Amino acid sequence: MKSRTFAIIGCGKVGVTLAWHLAHIGYLPIGFASRRAASAHAAAESAGGGRVCRDPWEAAANADLVFITTPDATIAFIAECLAEHKGLKRGAVVLHCSGALSSEIIATVRRCGAHAGSLHPLQSFAAPTYPENPFRGIVMAGEGDDEALDLARAIASGFQAAFLKIETAHKTLYHAAAVAASNYLVTLLAASTRLLEGSGIAPENTLQVLLPLVRGTLNNIEKRGVADALTGPIARGDVATVEAHCRKIEQSLPDLLPFYQVLGRYTLPLAQGKVSADKLRELAALLGRS
Ligand SMILES: NC(=O)c1ccc[n+]([C@@H]2O[C@H](COP(=O)([O-])OP(=O)(O)OC[C@H]3O[C@@H](n4cnc5c(N)ncnc54)[C@H](OP(=O)(O)O)[C@@H]3O)[C@@H](O)[C@H]2O)c1
Repeated sequence: MKSRTFAIIGCGKVGVTLAWHLAHIGYLPIGFASRRAASAHAAAESAGGGRVCRDPWEAAANADLVFITTPDATIAFIAECLAEHKGLKRGAVVLHCSGALSSEIIATVRRCGAHAGSLHPLQSFAAPTYPENPFRGIVMAGEGDDEALDLARAIASGFQAAFLKIETAHKTLYHAAAVAASNYLVTLLAASTRLLEGSGIAPENTLQVLLPLVRGTLNNIEKRGVADALTGPIARGDVATVEAHCRKIEQSLPDLLPFYQVLGRYTLPLAQGKVSADKLRELAALLGRS
């Protein structure tokens, strides 16, 4: 069977990573374009071939698959340029990798008879990543036209990633979920670190204290599910302890009191069924708006 050809527009961390791994699962690199020629050359070199073009529509013109991997704010503009210059084959699939935006932002490519989709790797790329496979075992979420979805699913499978189909209308909520789980975990640990330092633990030791606890919690979540993994004072209905926490935080790190309280309020429903209604009401009063 003839290999599918691909082009990459926007040769940064994700573009170069995709180029290398697509080439290694049998897709043929044929075109690269980026803001700076040096970036496109680096991508072509990593993929082991393909023409470096000044304009995106030259790079994409003969490709079966076009990845637009520019920053999110530029994706729609690139799609518009491709359509405007008739720089796409009829039947080509155009994918972008943004988690926050849906395929609708590249709907203009349909004017050339191309198919629009998005394929978001739920992974963080701090640099182009190869030969190590950063896609193995992760989720790649896709949405868009049927033809785009079919190819997105095949790419995820080739990369040994799990494919997750998202409804186009719900892409923003999907991305908010990813931000809450990943970015806000960092926020959570930043707050927890400050509380620990307030308790006298040296800054260089805080991660050593917190990480085993966090890993243990993740383990419990994996084994028992989110609702059953909750332990601690709220799960026990221990009003006195929560009251002591609030008082001490207010004295020592008052800006963190609303943070502690709001997370506590969202923890209360997880304790329902384990703790009496009276205790839940007392806890809710303590965790009310400060
Ligand atoms: N990094 C991550 O962790 C991650 C994870 C999942 C999804 N994504 C998504 O992947 C996409 C790419 O992100 P990234 O992290 O790879 O960004 P990046 O490293 O900043 O790369 C973007 C590339 O696009 C090029 N570019 C900028 N404006 C352009 C234009 N007008 N025309 C052509 N090329 C242009 C840049 O050019 P030059 O180098 O040529 O100057 C840069 O190399 C985004 O949609 C992002 O949301 C990123």
